[in-house]
Amino acid sequence: MGQEYAVTPWEVKGKVDYLRLAREFGVQLLTDEDLNLLKGLTGGDVHYLIRRGFFYAHRGFREILERARSGESWALYNGRGPSGDLHIGHLVPWILTKWFVDKFNVHYFFELTDDEKFLVRDGYTLEETNRLAYDNALSLIALGFTPDRLHIIVDTDDVAYLYKIAVKVAKKLTLSTVKNTFGLTDSNNIGATFFPAMEIAVAFLPTELLNSETPVLIPTAIDQDPYFRLARDIAETLNYPKPATLYSKFLPGLTGEDKMSASNPDSALYINDDDKEVRRKIMNAFTGGQPTAELQRRLGGNPDICPVYRYHTLLSDSDDEVKRIYEDCRGGRLLCGECKLILYERVSAFLNRHRELREKAKDKVSEYKISVKFK
Ligand code: TYM
Repeated sequence: MGQEYAVTPWEVKGKVDYLRLAREFGVQLLTDEDLNLLKGLTGGDVHYLIRRGFFYAHRGFREILERARSGESWALYNGRGPSGDLHIGHLVPWILTKWFVDKFNVHYFFELTDDEKFLVRDGYTLEETNRLAYDNALSLIALGFTPDRLHIIVDTDDVAYLYKIAVKVAKKLTLSTVKNTFGLTDSNNIGATFFPAMEIAVAFLPTELLNSETPVLIPTAIDQDPYFRLARDIAETLNYPKPATLYSKFLPGLTGEDKMSASNPDSALYINDDDKEVRRKIMNAFTGGQPTAELQRRLGGNPDICPVYRYHTLLSDSDDEVKRIYEDCRGGRLLCGECKLILYERVSAFLNRHRELREKAKDKVSEYKISVKFK
């Protein structure tokens, strides 16, 4: 059977079969037992992004839970390749990470890869990607992290924290491994082949900074797995603990494709879209509805294939509300227009508040920089 989709850290194509992808990547699926273990540590609470199966796979999550149970140290890690088109999908792993920080009160390391964006994407100067790193950091801070827990690394500014680790990592990775893992060819620049060492280095940084074994848990969409598969392969030979990961699916495009896509701006809701734009995109979205209102009332819609319903499940923390939307859609009691309006109001309220909080974060970024806290 041919490959109908492709997922690499730099490109997602086609309709992703998530179960098959998990098998191909060799990652574990989250089980009820994992969720029960987590519940046991959080007073019965499991974040809805995990509960509803959006985060669905992992590497080594159990080991982190065991450490949490026995009071041993661990930390959180994720990151962003800074660009001007931050969308709601990018915030999803950070929203879950905020929940972990609140529940477990652990350190959270965040890498802004201005070097990566410059090296692997055409059309950016390094000055631009560096400026965008600080811009994108505002959205992270706007989610409510405090400077005593969140530590921001901007690669080209904070390279001294990473370089020694990255060099050791680089020595363990052959050119052919990196080429195969990331799909690089001889025509890629040599920076792209070194960069993975920088993303892997942050996974080992907490152990160096805190001076004790501190594995990280990395909540991210599954496209980042190649980095951390390699990181786990080499960790022991470098005397570092293996990083653990928690993988989500992608937030689908509003226009019906599997992932919001930069090449189709109508497929994504960007942080800077104003109300009018958000409304237009949502009202034009693909749905699982019937062609006419009359048929919808008679036959009901299909929320299982509907991106609008999917967005409700990813942006509403009320199980009752999500269930009501599902059942009313199936039963023909909720028409697509009304369902879209509910989503529009939710997204608009979120984005307006988010932009206010970004403004407030503008003079605070330096408090979060790793360099002010770890000398
Ligand atoms: P980047 O900037 O491509 O993506 C940032 C984070 O957002 C996730 N993501 C999505 N999640 C849900 N739905 C989507 N449609 C969607 N699109 C992107 C990505 O999986 C990622 O978690 N190389 C990284 C930056 C990085 C990093 C890390 C990411 C450095 N260290 C550690 C995760 C963990 C990058 O360019 O991400």
